[in-house]
Amino acid sequence: MEGCVNETNFVILEEGVIAMDVIGQKINEKKLTGNTDAFYVADLGEVIKKHHQWKMALPRVKPFYAVKCNDSKPIVWTLAQLGISFDCASKNEIAMVQDIGVPPERIIYAHPCKESSHIKFAATNGIQMMTFDNKDELFKIARIHPTARMVLRIVTNDAKSFLPLSMKFGATLKECRQLMECAKALCVDIIGVSFHVGSGCTEPQAFVEAIADSRIVFDIGMSLGFHMNLLDIGGGFPGSEEEKITFQEIAAVINRALELHFPEASGVNIIAEPGRYYVASSLTIAANIIGRKITIDSTNSNDDETETKKTIMYYVNDGRYGSLKAEQPPIKPIAFKKVSPDQQLFDTKLWGPTCDSFDYVIDHCKLPELEIGDWLLFQNRGAYTITLASKFNGFQGPIANFVMTREGWETLQKIKQENQLPTEEQVQGEI
Ligand SMILES: Cc1ncc(COP(=O)(O)O)c(C=O)c1O
Repeated sequence: MEGCVNETNFVILEEGVIAMDVIGQKINEKKLTGNTDAFYVADLGEVIKKHHQWKMALPRVKPFYAVKCNDSKPIVWTLAQLGISFDCASKNEIAMVQDIGVPPERIIYAHPCKESSHIKFAATNGIQMMTFDNKDELFKIARIHPTARMVLRIVTNDAKSFLPLSMKFGATLKECRQLMECAKALCVDIIGVSFHVGSGCTEPQAFVEAIADSRIVFDIGMSLGFHMNLLDIGGGFPGSEEEKITFQEIAAVINRALELHFPEASGVNIIAEPGRYYVASSLTIAANIIGRKITIDSTNSNDDETETKKTIMYYVNDGRYGSLKAEQPPIKPIAFKKVSPDQQLFDTKLWGPTCDSFDYVIDHCKLPELEIGDWLLFQNRGAYTITLASKFNGFQGPIANFVMTREGWETLQKIKQENQLPTEEQVQGEI
């Protein structure tokens, strides 16, 4: 628990109160004081719920949360309390997770091209599991961390993913034998295979193919004398109901492929590196309308009557350079205002607050006419949002708030009873 920031707001909600109530309260308070700063509310209870669903749908697969997706300490802390392990991509991510008290066995350094000084740091801090996909990396490992337990990352067919990764990382099946022979010659141990089907995967068949390919690589490794006992099926799982495929659909396909190629009797440990799955739906951003431009276009129709078309551009105080960059799941602004169902909707474009014309939030949506000072909500924004925010043009990202339902808190307590969960007061002081 040490190392958690204490400037963030963390509240355990009373019975019947939900995160959306907190957002409403905050907006009303802000209206009273004239404060228009953008903020977000992250619901840690939602993260706990996701973990429960994971265990139900993928009981054989041990999750290593991908810290890069959202590295907020309260989120990482909650996941750590649930007993989840971590995928770290750098020295700072490893240090942060270890600061929270996560032991090195619960960390995989899942970056195939690591900076030498970061490998040294990992070695000094007891991290053993790490990925690779090329010979140069093996030479680095042999020199800096010869006792590491390496996991060979292979390419996948990620054509149907929102964010493909295989053009940057992964060895082809052809390259795998050579790489494994090289590891053998360097006395570097290989314990398994990893892959990533690309973030925001919409095609479960990508997992099936990658699991089948992993089996081939396992067999090569075993024929070379490696004790292969780890399959890492990476990330790519959907994080909200807005996505094209459900987590349960993907999980069912994965379970069948695992049963075929890596049945329980094989004794192979299966892990995954979900990021988006755990956090996307937990976070709602509230941004204020700071400017507005209304355009009226007049056109003459055939019978000489003039038709007018109103389009509206709003400028809001979070944008593409802040935390409203990730377009998956699609950005769907909601007006935080009572709007009657028959209120007219207009073609709308949303701009971020900076001077840069690349800083748009959404090119086109339909919204009612709103005023400067009104608020817009953006749901499902927990993945690849606040970790990517910059301070371009001097704009600070949205202010962080964390909540957990009483029910979520009690679930966490049950899980951690035997491990002396800190009191509510201690947590509020520490995160
Ligand atoms: C190596 C690795 N693992 C896991 C993840 C997390 O992926 P996702 O958020 O799609 O679950 C990523 C994302 O880029 C990654 O590069």
